[in-house]
Amino acid sequence: MAHNFVRVAHRGASASYPENTLLAFRKAMETGVDALELDVHRTQDDQLVVIHDSKLDRTTTGQGRVREHTLSQVRSYDAGQGEKVPTLAEVVQLVAGTPVRLCVEIKGFSKEEELALTEPVMQFLNEANMIDKVIVTSFLPAVLLKAKAINPLVSLMLDPWPQDGSLTPRQVVEQTLASGANGVSFECAAVTRALADECRLMALTLWPWVPRKPEEFRAMLELGVSGIVTDSPDVLNKVLNDPSF
Ligand code: G3P
Ligand code: CA
Repeated sequence: MAHNFVRVAHRGASASYPENTLLAFRKAMETGVDALELDVHRTQDDQLVVIHDSKLDRTTTGQGRVREHTLSQVRSYDAGQGEKVPTLAEVVQLVAGTPVRLCVEIKGFSKEEELALTEPVMQFLNEANMIDKVIVTSFLPAVLLKAKAINPLVSLMLDPWPQDGSLTPRQVVEQTLASGANGVSFECAAVTRALADECRLMALTLWPWVPRKPEEFRAMLELGVSGIVTDSPDVLNKVLNDPSF
């Protein structure tokens, strides 16, 4: 399918498979996506792992904070359907040799933890020769500014805050530019035509997250956004193939 649009699988094909697992990422790639979105935390022994929450409880059989468990402990838990919490290195290996990019969101228990995690994540991406294959994302401008200081060649997307519709399009653009980012990631319910127009006119990409239903995809496509971050890349592909789906 030809398209000029970036399809991003949010935590993999996470509507149908356990989020942020190699299974969910593989299934998203089989469906056809341009990028995989994932969340990174750090274990007690400073290993980079792919999991959304700072605690293990919601998505694994473990309990407590990721940062208070070793990699081997984190890997001993079930992350769903027999999957383990992957390392960032495993996801990099999964996309190696493919055109699929990675949207790497730096997470943490606190803002301080997120800021502190920026350097090891960037160091890993540099050493893995992945800078030209990733988009680093964060809700924190300070994280993106730090990432840019470490490697000016990194592509960055900001999640401006708040995303409840209270920011004007100009405020969204200002937050984004001040963070050094070249793109905006935004809750789709708060994405308006005015915001889509302002981002386009100011040369910023805009990727709404996370539409799920065909009508939600169609509404975003109609605004001319440059990409969509979704838990259901299969549904997105169906809509792109057949707008009346
Ligand atoms: O870019 C932000 C997007 O990933 C949504 O945030 O909570 O799913 O990490 P979250
Ligand atoms: Ca995320």
